[in-house]
Amino acid sequence: MSVDILLVTDDSSREDIAEALTHLAKYAAHQLHHPDCTPWVTAHSPDRRIAHRLGGGFMTLNAEMILDQKQSPGLIENPCRDALIELASKVSAGRTIVELGSFKGRSTAHLALGSSRGNAVAVHAYDPWDNGDTPAGYETHAPSIVEYVRSETREAFDAHMARTGAGEYVTAHQSTGVDGAKDYDDLDVALLFHDALHRKEDVRDDLKAWLPNMADDAVIVLHDVGDPRFEVEEGARLALTRTKVLREKWNWEGREVHLWAKQPTKRGFTIVRTR
Ligand SMILES: C[S@@+](CC[C@H](N)C(=O)[O-])C[C@H]1O[C@@H](n2cnc3c(N)ncnc32)[C@H](O)[C@@H]1O
Repeated sequence: MSVDILLVTDDSSREDIAEALTHLAKYAAHQLHHPDCTPWVTAHSPDRRIAHRLGGGFMTLNAEMILDQKQSPGLIENPCRDALIELASKVSAGRTIVELGSFKGRSTAHLALGSSRGNAVAVHAYDPWDNGDTPAGYETHAPSIVEYVRSETREAFDAHMARTGAGEYVTAHQSTGVDGAKDYDDLDVALLFHDALHRKEDVRDDLKAWLPNMADDAVIVLHDVGDPRFEVEEGARLALTRTKVLREKWNWEGREVHLWAKQPTKRGFTIVRTR
């Protein structure tokens, strides 16, 4: 269901408006007995002396499709899915979520669903898709790399965003994580999910590029930490502990490692928090 609203406000900030919309959506969700009824915002007047005008509505995501592995194309296991949804639901209004490595959109939709259950924050998804590189030898670790650079993969991502409604929350950037960080100016990233290339130097460089944009209470989730052929954790350690300031900010020793019970040497994820 979608209900259009027009909200005319006084001199409120964007954060105030987002918070008001979230309360409104929670009320609507309660009335409709639907947990995934959330607000979305399409416009915001830059002129704060006059009224803000917001075109908004209530968007119901297709949670059943997002949660079902058979309908949700991609490579994320359910325990990681549940963590992403939970963490995304806790991101404060006005902050953002960034994903590096979106593939066909499974994890992107998990993040969008979590956001929709929380403060309806924006999700920025970065993937080079058919402009990407396929490093020599990588396919022995990740056979799915042949699919990374197919145009059908981006089409599958767009289709998943559209049919689940997740696209209302997601801005897709056809870019590597490192290049994307160069154009991202705010210090508001509260949740970063890394699932791009997994070699030590890939993870290190992606995190180094994004750390300056991370909020004070941000959380990083790294995927594929259980696979011994990759060195995801070592790459992250190099990035997160390389200066005193970073060591004081990031609680590397206190990270949570979640190996995949089904196959502990595949997939798995680590959550790194600030102190
Ligand atoms: C393991 S897949 C991601 C799986 C996805 N998270 C899911 O839910 O199924 C890795 C993705 O990272 C993308 N990728 C490759 N190099 C990248 C880079 N430098 N920055 C961001 N993404 C990259 C690939 O195109 C591929 O789609």
